[in-house]
Amino acid sequence: MLLSGRGSNLQAIVEARLPIDIVAVISNRPQASGLDYARAQGLTTLALDHAAHADRAAYDAQLAEAIERHQPDLVVLAGYMRVLSAAFVARFEGHLLNIHPSLLPAFPGLKTHQRALDEGVKVHGCTVHFVTAQLDHGPIVVQAAVAVRADDTAESLAARVLVQEHRIYPQAIRWFAEGRLVNKCGHVNLKDDFTSQSVFPS
Ligand code: GRF
Repeated sequence: MLLSGRGSNLQAIVEARLPIDIVAVISNRPQASGLDYARAQGLTTLALDHAAHADRAAYDAQLAEAIERHQPDLVVLAGYMRVLSAAFVARFEGHLLNIHPSLLPAFPGLKTHQRALDEGVKVHGCTVHFVTAQLDHGPIVVQAAVAVRADDTAESLAARVLVQEHRIYPQAIRWFAEGRLVNKCGHVNLKDDFTSQSVFPS
């Protein structure tokens, strides 16, 4: 599990009691409060400060080594706020999941909630996807939609999207752990199952 900040997605994943072992929680920011949460849960943690490395390639090589020491089946980006190098992605491709706070392919990058409001979209949301070298653009596993309200601010919209993030990320990881995700030509479906991989506001 990789994170940079408060780790609310990590918390949702822990609380979902999935049939997985979280073998390590690694942060590029030593002060990330998500690390405190992980430590309190008794998880193995590592702070690998990106500022202490010469460049992205050097950092990502160290990060990849640290991850491989734990031999995970899946690397989960849970609010990991650094662009990954192509070499890193190639090393873990197919085993690297991210959650992004928009309905991709709309609004890749940062400040997604404000940009959604600026565009006047009526539906916004979040996406779990496999990571590829193209930023916020890999095969989509599951999405959740949130209706935009006329009086929304970036903060109020972010809060409703976050609730959905906490639903769909554990779900996606469960599917992966159960070996049910099938990626055919960049389209991810559930093995032998036509369950909808979309969640709408109730
Ligand atoms: C989430 O909104 C996630 O979609 C984005 O960064 C935020 C991380 O939040 N990639 P948290 O650290 O999991 O609370």
